[in-house]
Amino acid sequence: MTELQAIERVGSTIKIVDQTALPATLEYRELATLEAVIEAIRTLRVRGAPAIGIAAAYGLAQAAELSPAPSLKKLTVIADRLKAARPTAVNLAWAVDRCLGTVQSNAQDIVDRLWQEAEAIHDEDRQMCSAIGRHGCELIPGKARILTHCNTGALATGGIGTALGVIVTAHHDGRVAMVYADETRPLLQGARLTMWELKVLGIPARLITDSTAGMLMGAGRVDLVIVGADRIARNGDTANKIGTYALAVLAAHHQVPFYVAAPSSTFDERLADGSGIPIEERAASEITEGFGARTAPSETDVYAPAFDVTPGSLITAFVTEQGIRPGGRKN
Ligand code: MRU
Repeated sequence: MTELQAIERVGSTIKIVDQTALPATLEYRELATLEAVIEAIRTLRVRGAPAIGIAAAYGLAQAAELSPAPSLKKLTVIADRLKAARPTAVNLAWAVDRCLGTVQSNAQDIVDRLWQEAEAIHDEDRQMCSAIGRHGCELIPGKARILTHCNTGALATGGIGTALGVIVTAHHDGRVAMVYADETRPLLQGARLTMWELKVLGIPARLITDSTAGMLMGAGRVDLVIVGADRIARNGDTANKIGTYALAVLAAHHQVPFYVAAPSSTFDERLADGSGIPIEERAASEITEGFGARTAPSETDVYAPAFDVTPGSLITAFVTEQGIRPGGRKN
């Protein structure tokens, strides 16, 4: 399973696992145009903060290759379109800007430079995931019962994952008794993707509805919570999949450690706190008729933020590729 590659460069195309088809089928899809890359990011065919950064980096290189006369000016416009595809995960803008930064105005080797930089981002993410797994493992007690949210595994990154990478590493070390995976409303990344990854890996896991977490913690059946992140401000405020904030409040109430695992590409040093993090809103239909089944009356008014911001004061510690960084939670 560590072999699973959610994204791969194949010549001038970008091959992705189409995550909208899981768990029913493991389908690959080739993205051959800028429009296809943007569509795949918007519709969550490729998703997870590091993975959309990698896909966008490859997308910029591909667009340069397809352009008859790529120039810094043209690529800046393309970069802006890629960055606008999903606004919350800073990894996307970070990766695109990093690639753009390698482009000298109208140089001959623009295309080669962009592919090389995208591959470097992909490779570094793979290594960062492994390091996060190793460091995070130190936080996992024996026979741990771990609760996680959304999907932060191989599907969401260039490597073994962030929070799920810690779980995978701890499992190899014989420390995981049970993973409780929140189903993660409304698009069910936990149910569809995390449960699929855990099953393939043979890690003991149980699916729960998001609203079961409080009851489980109250019953003393969760030893720690570990989640990923889409953007972390300087004070530790952390944007992640909607529902993360509620989990952090529950964890603090029940004195269960709450960890956030993320590579350095997810830390946004420009933001002092979480108030400046743009929160993506999704289509109402994802809630009222998700996966084709109508579950609310037509024309129901809906509020559908894809992410929430957990205050740094509710986070016990951050796991990064550099090690463990204390969070702001004191109990
Ligand atoms: O909307 P998604 O599925 O892209 O949201 C993903 C998450 O919130 C993940 O927890 C986050 O990106 C970290 S992935 C390593």
